Amino acid sequence: MTEYAVRTQTDLKRLIRAAGACDDTIAECVKSIGVDAVVHAVMREVLDRTDLRGCPAAEVLFRLHGGAPPQSQGSDVVIRVADDGTVALATMSTASVTATVAQSLPEVVRSVFGPRGSASTATRVLQWTAESSPETFGRPDPAFETVRRLLDSIDRSYHASLAELCVRSGSDKWGVHQYPQHYERHFQTVRDRPLTILEIGVGGYDNPRRGGESLRMWKRYFPRAAVYGIDIIDKSSLSESRMTILRADQADPVDLARVLEITGPLDIIIDDGSHVSAHVIATFALLFPALRSGGMYVIEDLQTSYWPHFGGKAGVYDDMETSVGFLKAMVDGLNHAEIDNRAQASTDACVKGMHFYHNLAFLEKGENRDEGAPSWLRGL
Ligand SMILES: C[S@@+](CC[C@H](N)C(=O)[O-])C[C@H]1O[C@@H](n2cnc3c(N)ncnc32)[C@H](O)[C@@H]1O
Repeated sequence: MTEYAVRTQTDLKRLIRAAGACDDTIAECVKSIGVDAVVHAVMREVLDRTDLRGCPAAEVLFRLHGGAPPQSQGSDVVIRVADDGTVALATMSTASVTATVAQSLPEVVRSVFGPRGSASTATRVLQWTAESSPETFGRPDPAFETVRRLLDSIDRSYHASLAELCVRSGSDKWGVHQYPQHYERHFQTVRDRPLTILEIGVGGYDNPRRGGESLRMWKRYFPRAAVYGIDIIDKSSLSESRMTILRADQADPVDLARVLEITGPLDIIIDDGSHVSAHVIATFALLFPALRSGGMYVIEDLQTSYWPHFGGKAGVYDDMETSVGFLKAMVDGLNHAEIDNRAQASTDACVKGMHFYHNLAFLEKGENRDEGAPSWLRGL
């Protein structure tokens, strides 16, 4: 079987942006990328999203056509779920197809990659292969469940909560930590935007074949995002569509410059890397300028700021060389317009908000240039 793929992340980004537009725009984008490549990229995404554990074996033929009849520019793809739970994408159907799903490709592209609320099933026709009989009537075929889960992944891109995705992906952000509740509070309103996200720290430490749990969680939580991860260990072989892993040391300015050349401007940055205070501070200085206005910079595991073996300081709470001390000084920066004779910091005018939780901080980038109180009120 030949597996087609959208050739570059750039094509996928184009498709995701087009998915927010009308059918004609989506159809034009599909044409320029190639129908087969788009069909396989979309169905690969559907498979990445679907939890098929425990599902009965089934073979589902998707006939994705160009739109209203005459149904031009179509492509068939088959999803095979085997008894042992393995899943494959194929281009040819066999005699044992359980169900056939016919739907317009632009509608499927919009449902899978479009903004929240844009999914629809207007053009969908579902046909079961097995003939109904008096014996089987009223006794649902076990394979119905497999088909339901696949179709749910198309129709309900925004259904799962971050905590659910966190547990499903195996990230320690929920359970060991309690981070998803805070992430969801800040991220749910931008969940359907075509964001560029970078997480420092892929997980799995020295093993190049392990990690990627939180990146998969972000990919699933943000169905329209391009997700990048960096790690000091080369874990690039774990890359998937919409999820690119690069080797980089967060403490090395040359590595980070190379990463930014690839990612371009960022909407969300999450530092879950070494947690060494000096690295956290240096990484912030290098990456914060690449964050777009309105973007969010998140630092996890701030408890290490109090631990000397992570370069933190025990019993010292406002030392600028510790991550928490560094962040506390930024709180003064939020109020810089009210403070006389303060040495200006480069972040004063562009950090608009800060939110602190247990071991976790969110820094919101934006204009912080409001005027201070008048001198008569300040007693000057
Ligand atoms: C806590 S794990 C990341 C967990 C992952 N983000 C998750 O939530 O599933 C930390 C990762 O940071 C990586 N790391 C350690 N030092 C680093 C550095 N200087 N630069 C980049 N990555 C580093 C480690 O190899 C490890 O895989």
